[in-house]
Amino acid sequence: HGESVVDIGSLHKEFGYFTYDPGFVSTSSCKSAITYLDGDKGELLYRGYPIEQLAEQCSHLEVSYLLLNGELPTAQQLTDFEHIISHHTLIKDALLKFFDGFNYDAHPMAMMTGVVGSLAGFYHDNLNILDPEHRKITAHRLIAKMPTIAAACYKHNIQQPFMYPRNDLSYCGNLLHMMFATPCEEYEIDPIAEKAMDVLFILHADHEQNASTSTVRLAGSSDANPYAAIAAGIACLWGPAHGGANEAVLRMLDQIGDVSNIEKYIAKAKDKNDSFKLMGFGHRVYKNFDPRAKIIKGICHQVLAKYGNDPRMELAMRLEEIALRDEYFVERKLYPNVDFYSGIIYKALGIPVEMFTPMFAIARTVGWISHWVEMISDPAKKIGRPRQLYIGAAKRTVPGLGERG
Ligand code: ACO
Repeated sequence: HGESVVDIGSLHKEFGYFTYDPGFVSTSSCKSAITYLDGDKGELLYRGYPIEQLAEQCSHLEVSYLLLNGELPTAQQLTDFEHIISHHTLIKDALLKFFDGFNYDAHPMAMMTGVVGSLAGFYHDNLNILDPEHRKITAHRLIAKMPTIAAACYKHNIQQPFMYPRNDLSYCGNLLHMMFATPCEEYEIDPIAEKAMDVLFILHADHEQNASTSTVRLAGSSDANPYAAIAAGIACLWGPAHGGANEAVLRMLDQIGDVSNIEKYIAKAKDKNDSFKLMGFGHRVYKNFDPRAKIIKGICHQVLAKYGNDPRMELAMRLEEIALRDEYFVERKLYPNVDFYSGIIYKALGIPVEMFTPMFAIARTVGWISHWVEMISDPAKKIGRPRQLYIGAAKRTVPGLGERG
């Protein structure tokens, strides 16, 4: 070790063998029974059920129950679950005051990270993560309160009064109400918008060990407060290489502006000296079409048929068509991912671009908390503690101040 900093051959004698796998490209960090995905086939299963069937036949809360509990609910279990979730939606008045500490134009993901982390201060005393009942209550609180917090972020951004949740509405209906109703005016919930949002939430609900879920597991592995662990996940999701991609896609389409500019931007994406990437393209695991992107493209057409065509849709479809014929994208198996079309749907529903990633965070909350519960309940749980391959200076002696030239 002292003689050569990269002599791995001798290092193992002291420390044993370990893998060097930047980005965890081929390292399983855990065992999990929640989500299965086959990147070559483009297949995604939640607890064994294909995503296509769940998106067509179930609601987001049904799927949330499935992810959390391992089985689909019976009719009675679903009614009970919906009742529990709708009765945990309120946030404490003191929590609402947190928002005043943020600039009115703060990014909602910045506010969400802070506000969700602060739940640790509100629900700490009676929290015993070793008690399965408390874990369940934590999961219910998070699933229920996340839309309320996201809507409060939006209202803070547009400087309108916060709208209290309504228990008589569906999960997504209530979110639309909290975002778009005002104290002076009711908001009429369009069933097409409500359904489209619900399906998007199902598609975003879990995706095994993606960066934000792995972050939640790693943060939670120290037995940290679960609200703090989820806040870490939200912070990770924000990045444009992950959940921030839906916002980045819309900004990219606006930047491209017109079908005639597509070739120029494709060339930029291929140029290794240019940092520009086709946002919404490529995935670490899918080397075939992302099955969620296929479903989303279908919803996109339905929503735009109702809300009027968005020229970005035409642009996105042409971009996809041209990229999928291009050798660079074909060779690297770069297909549209879940976020390529989701932003166009959200935009059509009147959701502002900055709120796209908070929408993703609401949907992914059930995935994060299901993984947290699975990890914390595992009797073989260990604190997450990766190793490193040290490439710094070899051991040396500290010189006196006058000797450092
Ligand atoms: N545009 C242009 N080239 C790309 C793109 C892209 N969107 N994505 C990957 N590539 C290229 C890489 O430059 C690399 O080329 P090289 O082999 O010549 O060096 C090759 O394809 C492999 O890409 P990696 O970056 O090694 O793949 P990785 O698995 O590490 O990254 C990622 C996956 C982060 C999703 C990447 O494809 C990307 O940045 N995409 C755009 C952002 C995006 O849409 N993110 C959302 C992902 S889905 C989600 O999180 C919900």
